[in-house]
Order: sequence, then structure tokens, then C-alpha cells
Amino acid sequence: MKIAIMGAMLEEVEPFLEVAEHEPLLEYFKKHTDTVYGGNIYHEAKYKGLDIVLAYSKIGKVNAGLTASMMIEKFGAEMLLFSGVAGAVNPQLKIGDLIAATHLCQHDLDITAFGHPHGFVPEGKVYVEPSQHLLHIAKEVADEKGINLKGGIIATGDQFIADPERKEWIQKTFEADAIEMEGAAVAVICDALNVPFFVLRAISDTADTDATFDFDEFLKHSSKVSSSFILAMIDKISDDYAK
Ligand code: ADE
Repeated sequence: MKIAIMGAMLEEVEPFLEVAEHEPLLEYFKKHTDTVYGGNIYHEAKYKGLDIVLAYSKIGKVNAGLTASMMIEKFGAEMLLFSGVAGAVNPQLKIGDLIAATHLCQHDLDITAFGHPHGFVPEGKVYVEPSQHLLHIAKEVADEKGINLKGGIIATGDQFIADPERKEWIQKTFEADAIEMEGAAVAVICDALNVPFFVLRAISDTADTDATFDFDEFLKHSSKVSSSFILAMIDKISDDYAK
């Protein structure tokens, strides 16, 4: 089983590469190989009997789509786990909280001029759903570790939202709980290619006027919250799939 671990920014994948705090990663780190392709670095290694390919895409839907496609088509990933940070839309989500996407949509996809709903293009769908199996594994990890993992709608767009009005519009239009800039792109690719996927985000800001300040302040911490959870999921997945 080959698993893609993906983030958008270096800070989001760095914790996976940090050796010191997670002993088993030593094994990974010693044996991994790097491939530079299309402007991204893909790290490949064995980890707990699983084949891993790890990369960050750079920010935005196009970059995310490219990296997800490469991980699947060029590197042979059979499952994709996305780890990173998001802005909270749902007021119950606080900085550092974890949200697993149950549905993902593109808030900036707009051909409403032709009478279609926001986020829809012909032959597409407004909401793409991740793997129920991976959501179930996430719930098991959360229960075992006593982590309050929320599930919810993640809205993706090529905009950093630091504006209460735009945030409210996204909440009202898509019933979104959190916003970020890559998740739905990854979802569309994985859905099209029949690859089970999971998108996890830890909150870095509340997408309001102070969002840029909070984002810079909490990017590293929230990235680590998210990556630690993904590593715990991988431990569980390795029990099921490692050979
Ligand atoms: N990722 C983290 N915070 C975000 C925000 N406020 N808008 C878009 N993407 C984000």
C-alpha cells in the first residue's frame, strides 16, 4: 500500500520530516529518496511497512491539483492524506482545533451566470466526499486519544480570507465550517481517479480582519497538531495494510 501525505506549505509537511520527536521516522529519514518533478520535491520511503510519498504542493488549487495528480499517477499512491491548516468559519472552531472534511467544495467556482449553483460545473458536483473508511479511522484515533475531532464542510478557493463579509458569504452559501486553499482540488482529483482520500486541517485563524496575523503566529503550531494526528492515523492504517 502506497500512501501520499500531502500539505500545501513547507511548514505543513516539515513535522513529518522532523526526526527527533518521532522515533520511528528515523527509519523513514535514513532511507528516503527525493525526486524533484514539476517544481516540487517528492520524498519516498518505507514507514512501518507502508510505502510513503510525501510532498507539499505550494499554495492554491492548481498547485494542489498538480501535486495530487503526480502523487497518484507518477508515484503510484493508492490513498492520499492531506494535512494542514485552515481558517475557521464555524464559531465553535478555535485556533488549534482539528477539523476533518466530510465534504469539500470550491467557493470561488462560479458559473452562476448560466443558472448553475455556486461551486458547480456541468458533470461535476458541488460537494466531494472523502473516504468513509478514512473518516472512520480518524474517529477511532480521536476517541482513543481523547481528541475533539470535528467533522465538517471545508470550502476551498484561491483566496486567503481575511474579511468578515466574504467569510459570512461562504458560510451562508456552502454551510462551510472552515476555509482553505487546496482541499477541494485534491478531492476532485482523488474522486476522479478513484483514490481514497482524507483532508485534515487544524485551525490557524478565524478568517477575520486579524487572520494574517494569526496565520503567521499559529501556522507552525497548528501544522504540528494536524501532522501528529495524521501520523497516528498512519499507525492505524499500517496495522491494516502493511505487508
Ligand atoms: N488557510 C488558513 N487560513 C486561511 C484563510 N483565512 N483563508 C484561506 N486559507 C486559509
